[in-house]
Amino acid sequence: MTGVEARALTAEEARDAVPALGAILTDCVANGASVSFMHPFAQADGEAFFSGVADDVAAGRAILIAAFLDGRIVGTAQVRFAPQPNQPHRCDIAKMLVRSDARNRGVGAALIAEAERAAARAGRTIGVLDTVTGSAADRLYTRAGWTRVGEIPDFALWPQGGLCATTFFYKRLRP
Ligand SMILES: CC(C)(COP(=O)(O)OP(=O)(O)OC[C@H]1O[C@@H](n2cnc3c(N)ncnc32)[C@H](O)[C@@H]1OP(=O)(O)O)[C@@H](O)C(=O)NCCC(=O)NCCS
Repeated sequence: MTGVEARALTAEEARDAVPALGAILTDCVANGASVSFMHPFAQADGEAFFSGVADDVAAGRAILIAAFLDGRIVGTAQVRFAPQPNQPHRCDIAKMLVRSDARNRGVGAALIAEAERAAARAGRTIGVLDTVTGSAADRLYTRAGWTRVGEIPDFALWPQGGLCATTFFYKRLRP
């Protein structure tokens, strides 16, 4: 949609964006997203996480995508290169996050599209991701053409507790 721009950040931009990205992660956990972390989750926790991601970008282990809505960072996703020597062509798409006040406007769609393009530009031809079964992200990845592999029950906890199932997807990526 108009006003949304998603693009890969340089290592320096990733470092500068740590407070904004930490705030997005904190907002998502506070609003009930099952994205590895438990409640309570503070801004400092979010910044510590994205500081590590900025290190990964600088080291070439990941591509960090940011989505801007009218110039403000409102969403993010990562392309994480598979570290295994026998998987130089594979990546994981991880930590797709959109601020709760910026959802349902196509930001998530812009993020997954740009993550796929960035991964393909980096020579990755197969992508893998997983998300809570039946969630908004599950629908987003299905719309974006990802193939559902299967579901694992009781895979993770919601931030406030309680088990949730996870669905795994893959997609062949083309430049
Ligand atoms: C999953 C998530 C990233 C989606 O982000 P988003 O920006 O809302 O995604 P989109 O706007 O592209 O799509 C969301 C919905 O808005 C709809 N939509 C998109 N553009 C729209 C528009 N201009 N007007 C109205 N609706 C629109 C989509 O059809 C979709 O509908 P659905 O939920 O009924 O399927 C977001 O919900 C989120 O951050 N969730 C918490 C974190 C999380 O669970 N991340 C996944 C980890 S794997």
